Amino acid sequence: MTKPVTGIYFHGRPDTDSGGHVIAHRGASQDAPENTLVAFRLAYEQGARWIEFDVSRLGDGTLAIHHDQTLDRCTDRTGPLSQLTSADLAGIDAGSWFGAQFAGEPLATLKQTLDLIDETGFSANLEIKPRGASPEPMARAVAQALDARPWARTNILVSSFDLGVLTALRKLMPDQPLAMIYRNPPADWPEILSTLGASSLHMRYQHLTADILTQARKHGFHIRVFTINDPARIEPFRTTGLAGVITDHPPLFLDNPVWADWAAGWISG
Ligand code: G3P
Ligand code: MG
Repeated sequence: MTKPVTGIYFHGRPDTDSGGHVIAHRGASQDAPENTLVAFRLAYEQGARWIEFDVSRLGDGTLAIHHDQTLDRCTDRTGPLSQLTSADLAGIDAGSWFGAQFAGEPLATLKQTLDLIDETGFSANLEIKPRGASPEPMARAVAQALDARPWARTNILVSSFDLGVLTALRKLMPDQPLAMIYRNPPADWPEILSTLGASSLHMRYQHLTADILTQARKHGFHIRVFTINDPARIEPFRTTGLAGVITDHPPLFLDNPVWADWAAGWISG
């Protein structure tokens, strides 16, 4: 796969947070095992230029791409991630649970995923899953991984449900674009985002209201919704300020003329 030479996110976009209109949730997770390199590559083939993935910490501090606290649902193994070290990753199959054709797909590290982003020119929403662990070591590890990539400031939007880990990261990375995630945001979400220095709110589409979009406009925040796999359910918000969708199947939006226009409007606007 070659790096696109005219990628909008590499040229003339001062802030990653200006993008992120159609984001592949855990990669192309409708058609490939979630949070794997093959799911990210498939998202690219489907036309997505943004992926979302979940970053968890193994017992030895290695950052790996996995949503759950345990291996049970999405690999051929069981048990908590906290009991693993990087040496265990080679023996884990994160693909065959989804389909025999994905057998042998590795449980990827953050490093491998950042290498893929580097190779393809993707932008990404990196979601931190601290799972109750102390925020500082998690934030330090993410900051260290991103500091090694000169493009992270413009191509990576870091998010989390955990305000503590984002606050810790903000101290380490004053300029990194951040998004706070709520399933259903509290009334004072604009104050929380302002204090944190976040520029985006990510939330469940079921709780989005016209009032939230009005407040976002007033304060200059971007709103993105997850996990939306039916454009009709958020149609009223397409023309009233919604900035992004996080979907398991990007072609639902990318191949839909009105939603493609919506995304293009944001890009040129
Ligand atoms: O980042 C948006 C979404 O991924 C948050 O929920 O549980 O799918 O990680 P979850
Ligand atoms: Mg996620």
